[in-house]
Amino acid sequence: MKTTPKWALHLFCFHPTTSGSPTGLQGDSHPFHQTRQLVQAQVTLRMLVLDIWDELQVLKKELRCCFPESLKVYGAILNICQENPFHQEVLVDSWPSFRVVIARPQREKTPSETSYFARSCAVFYRELGAYQQLVKDTDAIDWSQEFLLQGLQDGVHQVSRSLAAVKYFSAKLVTQTQVFVLQKPLNLSASVSVLGSEVKFSSLNLTHITLLNDTWSVGGSEQSLQYLTQLISSFPSSCLLDARGCPISWVLLDQFGCLTHAYTMPAHRGKGYIQLVIAALAQELEKMDYPVYGDILENNTPMKKALQRLGAHFTSCFLFYDLHTPLVLQ
Ligand SMILES: *[C@@H]1O[C@H](CO)[C@@H](O)[C@H](O)[C@H]1NC(C)=O
Ligand SMILES: *[C@@H]1O[C@H](CO)[C@@H](O)[C@H](O)[C@H]1NC(C)=O
Ligand SMILES: *[C@@H]1O[C@H](CO)[C@@H](O)[C@H](O)[C@H]1NC(C)=O
Repeated sequence: MKTTPKWALHLFCFHPTTSGSPTGLQGDSHPFHQTRQLVQAQVTLRMLVLDIWDELQVLKKELRCCFPESLKVYGAILNICQENPFHQEVLVDSWPSFRVVIARPQREKTPSETSYFARSCAVFYRELGAYQQLVKDTDAIDWSQEFLLQGLQDGVHQVSRSLAAVKYFSAKLVTQTQVFVLQKPLNLSASVSVLGSEVKFSSLNLTHITLLNDTWSVGGSEQSLQYLTQLISSFPSSCLLDARGCPISWVLLDQFGCLTHAYTMPAHRGKGYIQLVIAALAQELEKMDYPVYGDILENNTPMKKALQRLGAHFTSCFLFYDLHTPLVLQ
């Protein structure tokens, strides 16, 4: 996705006289090719999809100043600039100055059978009011689908609560977890340990999917199985295999570049395996110039200790995973 001289912003325009309610263009994008001057003159513009490589680089740079709150949308942009396996796109309320960034799946490339995990949206805002207005008055977020909304700021969760009645959905908080960041350079001294010859490093593949599904805290459904399959087929992962070639400890990445489903089989706990697999994946991420971050239940003490040994910084930022379900599906 290298820069081309054309201006290929996808403009989503709404009728200025209908006091903010979308026109019949709902869910319908019209790619225009036009000049920068024309784009700036478009005063009724409410949101735009950034799909020019140079602009995504500018956005990335601005978002780096707002870590950890902007980490999820930042991770999505990194993936968009690579192969974009989850067909994500990023939209802003205005450009080049913006107050809201939303990473969402491209609708035309998201079949209806896609799991609600894969349909996750992530949000970062500089002004809560601007976020509320954007998602209330435009179709930036498609409330008619079941999806997970991931926000690292309290307001994302609050806005969903306030819009549920008017947009006909229910929002259920699935988990609320604390965000940690592994500082660079990684402290790998804690991950140097002598592995017995019967245990070896590898990465996850599709033969492990049932095990992943059965052990994931929010797994156990067709949707989670489909999602985990998509994750390990699209992104790097790290695991330790026992002598029989079965994974005993592992970690993978979600579509926002966030560490997820870090797990050690009960019989193998207490040996520091989880920090080995996390360190291995973290090194890979560092090479790709990705931030290394994840989220953890506050009371997960063993995992916290393992992360502390890797020099993790536990931020004061919490991730809200909110499952949004349209009322018609209930
Ligand atoms: C790195 O980890 C080792 C082992 O846990 C610890 O002794 C050391 O102080 C850490 N170094 C830094 C710079 O945090
Ligand atoms: C996924 O895990 C759940 C819970 O263990 C199980 O009921 C379900 O059958 C699994 N699905 C598949 C296809 O393995
Ligand atoms: C998947 O991993 C297993 C080890 O658990 C290995 O034996 C197998 O060859 C791998 N399959 C593929 C397709 O890489």
